[in-house]
Amino acid sequence: MRIIGHLDMDAFFASIEERNNPRFKGLPIVVGADPKDGAGRGVVSTANYVAREYGIRSAMPITRAWRLSEAARLSGRPASVFLSGSWRTYSSVSRRIMDILRTHVATVQQRSVDEAYFDVSHTGSLSEAIKICRAIKQEIKSREKLTASIGLGPNKLIAKIASDYDKPDGLTVITEQDAESFLGPLTIRAIPGIGPKAEQLLKRYGVTTVADAKKLSADQLHQLFGAWGDTMYEKVRGRDTSPLRESETAKSIGHNQTFFHDTLSANFLLTKLTQAAEEVFSRLPDDGFTSFRTVVITVRFADFVTKTRAKTLPKSSHSLAELRHVAVQLFLPFLDYRENPHSKLIRLIGVRVEKIE
Ligand code: TTP
Ligand code: MG
Repeated sequence: MRIIGHLDMDAFFASIEERNNPRFKGLPIVVGADPKDGAGRGVVSTANYVAREYGIRSAMPITRAWRLSEAARLSGRPASVFLSGSWRTYSSVSRRIMDILRTHVATVQQRSVDEAYFDVSHTGSLSEAIKICRAIKQEIKSREKLTASIGLGPNKLIAKIASDYDKPDGLTVITEQDAESFLGPLTIRAIPGIGPKAEQLLKRYGVTTVADAKKLSADQLHQLFGAWGDTMYEKVRGRDTSPLRESETAKSIGHNQTFFHDTLSANFLLTKLTQAAEEVFSRLPDDGFTSFRTVVITVRFADFVTKTRAKTLPKSSHSLAELRHVAVQLFLPFLDYRENPHSKLIRLIGVRVEKIE
């Protein structure tokens, strides 16, 4: 049995601002472009739940959010606090949230700054999985003073839709048997990947809810959407077999080797470097990957001074020859004055690939 969770922070940027600035507590908060008294350009990043009561939403033009706030103010409600936000703050909170998640579960796929899938199949029972989710939510609350919503389901599709179902501070659990009936009444837009264009097209066939979409045959969906139609056929039935992938930013595969004697023998070092590249390349499929985009080499000198050099290719590569070539290219300057003007001996070299898929 698969049990997959999806965690999504509530009004993430705005909640962080509210927490960090107690004077804003309880007020409507909008994070985004500067509204410049109604003449601003740009959009809303997010709004807290009080501001959402005014109709303010993510991606809305900031001028529209300003007008909604003014209308509320004129009717005697508090005006919104508009903030430009700090990506740096949000990404450090994000990192801490993901670290909390990783202390509770082994497999985490971060999907964006405030959401992640995680696998709790190993618990073997929903009730055990629920306990873990409660503990995760509790720890986020006590450590970060923020709330998260979590969905649990038999796959990523259901987990994601479930996490959105009871926001904020929700925990929604959908069993495999209930998946189809849970999805049925939702609008077709609830299925990730169905955007405004697909929605319009489906409308012409009388489809507005997920249940409606089940009236279309696999062939019809294929004709309308090609391969994506085949996936859609499965999704509207609550079926999704896509695996969890640890996020590519977090994921890398590397191999270091420390030598018995420090050396500056080009022959020896280049042999060791290509061997490390081969070792790394051979480990890619073990972790379910076939390609890489970034190559990183590490060089540690006898005095322990350590340097890394990286190169990101214009597109992903499947080639060992290319990995070897890039690693050698990055390494050659360490054999001469360019990176090693005092001809220091080398004690370790390493090769790592990142942006792997
Ligand atoms: P979301 O999880 O989509 O939104 P949210 O966390 O603010 O609210 P909810 O409770 O509904 O989950 O996005 C996470 C953060 O990403 C959000 O706080 C701000 C940022 N973001 C943007 O900058 N622009 C956007 O259009 C969206 C949707 C989000
Ligand atoms: Mg969120």
